[in-house]
Amino acid sequence: MARTFNYNILEIIKERWSARAIDQNPIPVDDIKAVMEAARYAPSCFNEQPWRYIVAYENDDLTLMRSFLNEKNMKWAGKAPVLMMVLSSNVFHRNQKANKWNQFDAGTSWGFMQLEAWKRGYVTHGMAGFNADRAREELNIQEDHDIICMVAMGRYGNLEELDPLFHPIERPNERNPLESMMLNVKSIRCITSKKCSLIKRLHLYVFELQSFIIHYSSFIRAELTARLIPSYPVHLHKLLF
Ligand SMILES: Cc1cc2nc3c(=O)[nH]c(=O)nc-3n(C[C@H](O)[C@H](O)[C@H](O)COP(=O)(O)O)c2cc1C
Repeated sequence: MARTFNYNILEIIKERWSARAIDQNPIPVDDIKAVMEAARYAPSCFNEQPWRYIVAYENDDLTLMRSFLNEKNMKWAGKAPVLMMVLSSNVFHRNQKANKWNQFDAGTSWGFMQLEAWKRGYVTHGMAGFNADRAREELNIQEDHDIICMVAMGRYGNLEELDPLFHPIERPNERNPLESMMLNVKSIRCITSKKCSLIKRLHLYVFELQSFIIHYSSFIRAELTARLIPSYPVHLHKLLF
C-alpha cells in the first residue's frame, strides 16, 4: 500500500522514510554537523534544549556503539557510517526540578534533524532496539539523562546488499487515517466516558479497527514473506511495492 496524502504538505515530509539499506561509506563531518545544527534549533520547554547526541563516525567509536545494537538492528545498521545515541536531560538546569517535557523536546529535535538529513541526501533511521542499560554503564551516563534511542545515518545504499529479511519492509510506511488522530473535544470525551451513544462509539471503533488493519497488514505481510519465501527476490519486491 502506498502513502496517501489528503493535503499538500511539505514535500520533504512526504518523501522521508526510514530505509535500512544504508551505504557503508563515510559521509563528510560537515554534513553530520549540519544535521546537528538542525536538531539544535528545535523548540523546547523554557528553551532548555535538553537533547544530547552522542555521535560516532570514527572506527573505534562506531565499534562501541554497534555493540549496543540488538541482533536484528545489527543486521542492517551494523555497517552504517554514523551511529548516534539520543539522550535527554530530565532535570531543568534553571531550577533542578524534573523536566517532564524533556523527551517531547528531544523528539522534536530528532525530527528536525531527520528532515535536514533527508534534504542533504541522507537516510536517518531511529532504533529502540539496543541495550540502553549497558550503554549507560559503558558510557557512564548518569541518571539525570534519559537514554531515548539510537539512530543510524548514511546515504541510501544498495538494496541487493540488505539482508533479504528486510526486503519486504524496505519501503515508506503508511499512516493511520487522519481522523483517527485528529480528535475533537466530543470524541475524546466519548473515548474516556461511558455516557457515549452506541453509534458514536461504533464510529470510533471503526477508525480504530481501520488503523489496526493498516498497521498490522504490512507487518504480517512482511513476516509472512520473510518466513515463507526466505530468498524473496528483489525484483518481486520492486514489482509489488
Ligand atoms: C523511537 C523509534 C524507535 C525505532 N526503533 C526501531 C528499531 O529498533 N528497528 C527498526 O528497524 N526501526 C525502528 N524504528 C523505525 C520505525 O519503525 C519507523 O520510523 C516507522 O515504522 C515509520 O516509518 P517511516 O519512518 O519510514 O515513516 C524506530 C523509530 C523510532 C522513531
